[in-house]
Amino acid sequence: MTFPYRILYTVFIINLFVSYNPTLCKTYKYTREYLLNNHLFYLEPPQTAFAQDIKPISYPDKCDLKQLHLVTRHGSRYPDANSILFFDELEKIFANVSVAKNWYKNPFLMRQNYQLIKRGELEPYFDGLQSRKRYAKFWDGVKYDPEVVKFQSTQTSRTGASIMAFSEGLFNGKGSLDNCKSQPIYYTTTPNQDDTLFMFLACRRWNETVFSNNKVLDEQFYIYGNKTLAPIAKRISEEYNISPPLDPIFVPHIFNNCQFWLTVYNRTDAWCPLLSPKEFLLSRHYWDLFYYQIVSYGNPLNERLGCRYLTQLVNGVEDHLNGNSSMIADLRNAHSFTIYMILTTMGVFKNKYPVSADLTYEQIKELEYTEYRLIHWSSTLYFEIYKCSGDTVLIRVLLDFKPFLIPGCDSEYCEWNKFKEILGDKIGCDFEKMCAYP
Ligand SMILES: *[C@@H]1O[C@H](CO)[C@@H](O)[C@H](O)[C@H]1NC(C)=O
Ligand SMILES: *[C@@H]1O[C@H](CO)[C@@H](O)[C@H](O)[C@H]1NC(C)=O
Ligand SMILES: *[C@@H]1O[C@H](CO)[C@@H](O)[C@H](O)[C@H]1NC(C)=O
Ligand SMILES: *[C@@H]1O[C@H](CO)[C@@H](O)[C@H](O)[C@H]1NC(C)=O
Ligand SMILES: *[C@@H]1O[C@H](CO)[C@@H](O)[C@H](O)[C@H]1NC(C)=O
Repeated sequence: MTFPYRILYTVFIINLFVSYNPTLCKTYKYTREYLLNNHLFYLEPPQTAFAQDIKPISYPDKCDLKQLHLVTRHGSRYPDANSILFFDELEKIFANVSVAKNWYKNPFLMRQNYQLIKRGELEPYFDGLQSRKRYAKFWDGVKYDPEVVKFQSTQTSRTGASIMAFSEGLFNGKGSLDNCKSQPIYYTTTPNQDDTLFMFLACRRWNETVFSNNKVLDEQFYIYGNKTLAPIAKRISEEYNISPPLDPIFVPHIFNNCQFWLTVYNRTDAWCPLLSPKEFLLSRHYWDLFYYQIVSYGNPLNERLGCRYLTQLVNGVEDHLNGNSSMIADLRNAHSFTIYMILTTMGVFKNKYPVSADLTYEQIKELEYTEYRLIHWSSTLYFEIYKCSGDTVLIRVLLDFKPFLIPGCDSEYCEWNKFKEILGDKIGCDFEKMCAYP
């Protein structure tokens, strides 16, 4: 048997970090830096996640930052229940595979599914610290008041704990409790049928036609399973003598298992070594296909589902500018689905071609916008509202502090009325009607 994989390294930017020794152990070796810096997973590299040297933003000419709206994703967590079930299956399949002997067992406990890990508490805490530094002038002198700074999360332990951690980063040292002068804050959780943060759960039509019974998604998975995952499963089965051969559906779960071993245990030697760099990206593409269909442009419903959040945003801005509300910051903790749906409803981050099962490897590599490329644990989506001389109002939107252009706006600082015009009838949408089923 020959091993043609070595030549693949050249296509990877940081090829130094991947090595493969065909004669000794038939596995690939990845470093933590390689996996993090190439944004192969949700994990954010520590140099940005925990950065302390944050420079304050500069304001556009003759403008003042008046209000902040934020949607963040919760911090790093343990795997979800469904992944744990797949990891149990992988444990059985790899029980007798010698290269897997140190890590084939599934260490993830069902009772911890979806809970934050330690790093997941630190990430939102640092996001809070970074917010204070980046918006130093804005926060300066702001004393916590629940009418002025509003905290909110969905009803899950990971988002609730994350919003608490964020508030500690933002306000600690400015409160009155204990040695650290902690600031107790009030935060509300939105119900599971909330149409602003859990808009997908609140939408019956989405559940019945997008999340379930989705013919397009089934077809995409079918094509991808047979065209792309099957050869990888075959290669792995032959190389490690797995019998009966590995079902292709497990390939993306090998990727995911590797992701969680790195996330939770800081180890890159578990599961990752089974995949070549190319197979790595192809396995991840399976998940990006899924997210594209269920929360992004794959389905037209997703281009509207963020409308209730955006409606509240618009009302929150106008109430404040009209002097009818004292709220200057609306800070919410939710999920990657929430962020991705809001972005999709705003019409941003569209690739030149759809995220599909038919893309070539070269095209997959060049995709700029997919869930895995855009979103980290604890990603932040900030909306900055400026009031400028002559009563001009501007909005700027940033994902992980990178501003982006909304199609139709003249610059990253978008004129408020233009922004509303672009959103059109998404503002004030009839969510109930849109989500009625059948
Ligand atoms: C692993 O080996 C044990 C003992 O030889 C055998 O009973 C078991 O069926 C094997 N499992 C698999 C998945 O091959
Ligand atoms: C979502 O759709 C599935 C499949 O049709 C159905 O079994 C389930 O009850 C639905 N859930 C909700 C909350 O409507
Ligand atoms: C591949 O195609 C076969 C039918 O030809 C189907 O039964 C199978 O589910 C497909 N595999 C995957 C992984 O989708
Ligand atoms: C993870 O392991 C590397 C060494 O491989 C070490 O440098 C790093 O500090 C560890 N990170 C954490 C969060 O434990
Ligand atoms: C001001 O806000 C309150 C509470 O949100 C609302 O009931 C009232 O209608 C608003 N008034 C104006 C003039 O917008």
